[in-house]
Amino acid sequence: MSDALHLTVNGERHAVRAAPSTPLLYVLRNDLCLNGPKFGCGLGECGACMVLVDGRAARSCVLPVSTLADHEITTLEGLGDGERLDPVQDAFIEEQGAQCGYCLNGMIMTVRGLLNADPAPTREAVVAALDHTLCRCGTHQEILAAACRAAG
Ligand code: FES
Repeated sequence: MSDALHLTVNGERHAVRAAPSTPLLYVLRNDLCLNGPKFGCGLGECGACMVLVDGRAARSCVLPVSTLADHEITTLEGLGDGERLDPVQDAFIEEQGAQCGYCLNGMIMTVRGLLNADPAPTREAVVAALDHTLCRCGTHQEILAAACRAAG
C-alpha cells in the first residue's frame, strides 16, 4: 500500500492511502464519502466531477491526487457557510436549474469558480464558462438563467 497522501478538503486536512496517480474524484467519493462531485465521462470532458482547487473550477477525474497536497480543495459540500447555501446554489433553486440533477454539481461549481475570478461576468463570459459543462436533459436555458442570476 502507498504512503499516506495529504489533502485539504472543505477546510479539513485528510490523510488518505492511494496510488499517486489516483484521480482526486475517486478519493473524494470513495475515501472521503463526498458524493457531490459526480463521475460522468472520466475523461475531463463533461464537467460532472467539478471541484474548486484554490477557488478555481477543476475537473477532479483528471487530477492526480498526489499533485494536490498544497492546495485547498472545495467540493459542493463545502459551499455556503454551514447555515446558508452559497448564492449560486440559491440561484439554481430560484431558477429551477435542474432536471435529473446529475450535472448540477458541475454547473454550480463552474459558476462559483467563474464568480471567484470575476464577480460580475458578462452573459458571454457565463456562456463561455459553461460551454464544456454538459447537461444531457437539455436544461441549459434554466441553468444559464440561474448562472446569470448568480452573477447579478
Ligand atoms: Fe470528469 Fe466528466 S467525469 S469531466
